[in-house]
Amino acid sequence: MTEDARDGDAQSPPGGNTERLWGGRFSGGFADIMERINASIDFDKRLYVQDLAGSRAHCNMLVAQGIIEAADGHEILKGLDRIEAEIEAGAFEFTPAREDIHMHVEARLAELIGPAAGRLHTARSRNDQVATDFRLWVRAALDELDGDLADLLAALVERAEAEADTLMPGFTHLQSAQPVTLGHHLLAYVEMFARDRNRARDCRARLNESPLGAAALAGTSFPIDRRATAAALGFARPAANSLDAVSARDFALEYLAVASILSVHLSRLAEELVIWSSAPFSFVAMSDAFSTGSSIMPQKRNPDAAELVRGKTGRVIGDLNALLVMMKGLPLTYSKDMQEDKEPVFEARDTLALTVPAMRGMVGDMTVNRAAMAALAGAGHATATDLADWMVRTLGLPFREAHHVTGRIVALADQRGVELAALPLAALREIEPRLNEAVLGVLRVADSVASRTSEGGTAPDNVRAEVARWRSRLAGEGEAG
Ligand code: ARG
Repeated sequence: MTEDARDGDAQSPPGGNTERLWGGRFSGGFADIMERINASIDFDKRLYVQDLAGSRAHCNMLVAQGIIEAADGHEILKGLDRIEAEIEAGAFEFTPAREDIHMHVEARLAELIGPAAGRLHTARSRNDQVATDFRLWVRAALDELDGDLADLLAALVERAEAEADTLMPGFTHLQSAQPVTLGHHLLAYVEMFARDRNRARDCRARLNESPLGAAALAGTSFPIDRRATAAALGFARPAANSLDAVSARDFALEYLAVASILSVHLSRLAEELVIWSSAPFSFVAMSDAFSTGSSIMPQKRNPDAAELVRGKTGRVIGDLNALLVMMKGLPLTYSKDMQEDKEPVFEARDTLALTVPAMRGMVGDMTVNRAAMAALAGAGHATATDLADWMVRTLGLPFREAHHVTGRIVALADQRGVELAALPLAALREIEPRLNEAVLGVLRVADSVASRTSEGGTAPDNVRAEVARWRSRLAGEGEAG
């Protein structure tokens, strides 16, 4: 490491310590509190797989380009393998004095192989190193999420098929609006989660550029081959601008935005499960596997998993917010503030690794109470629109007038305390004499639902067709990513 005063920047602390890898120009000691505020090893040790992969790729490239000797490269690779084994065996010593994962690996490498270790950092900086590691880590998180979302989507599609004919109230303002099928309702979430999955794939495609070789910020005078390291790490190409490569964190922001939107969708479904599983609704019963009891009320059965999916959404949104605010005032290029980028991303990933599979489990396990749903499907005169539509279609009334007549019929039903379908034809005729027997058909919930065959509508036949479309789409998407 001749040409670089470690990382080539002014981020290093005042004071100093010649035992530190960057300590050449420092003579004073490091304040205790400085060590603690500076160290990131407690959390960034999670990047070790990516850090080792980046170092291997860099080492191989340095040898191939004749920048370091093959024999040194060989020793370095052997040392990196040993370090990997030590970390995996729990035998690797982590200490705040070595700051971060990058310094830990390099310092340990020096202990294992001696001076050759110092050649690994040629034409590299921690700035391009950490950007590379972090991109690789987020990419792996996105791939894992893709699989979890595929499982959730499959569980929802399966349920939707089983409940294609299940009548339930559809709501606006959480007031009974028009009857729908549960299958249709579940497929609405399939649409949302499929968009989330596409957003995650878009994010992955955009982040898949290699910062490695940008060095501290300006590139390097060594004859490196950035295409080779990019290819070795599965990146589509090297990032084009060295300043952008070390300072961009929009890939992490985008990941957190994907995670936040997905979490909002999970939270809305969780909220519905909480409402539906309450005794007054009793639309669904969560399985024992996803419920808890109360320590005082023996009858209680609480939908804790759904509540936690809803509750944890706040964290993920907070993670996005934290990173946005941290980044907003930073000049190019790297600033140490950016060390704060990892914990929000780790937390969001850890949250999604719980919430997505938990939701999948709840969807697969819950029991649907079809009778309870059907009993309320027509409540609140939910077929009133069907009645108005019938008058438009059959009697040729303008919709506004049909709406008005229907309103009077609804008022009569309310006055008698019955649902629309329970009013005798004679009573309907007193309000609109042209009504006949045929109108009674459209007042029934099942007929109402079956009639909504417009594209994207709730009719059971539509639901079955959509289930088939989703099945083949999901099968086709399996290999992508
Ligand atoms: N631990 C640092 C981080 O996560 C690594 C990069 C340090 N670069 C520097 N110039 N001090 O951001």
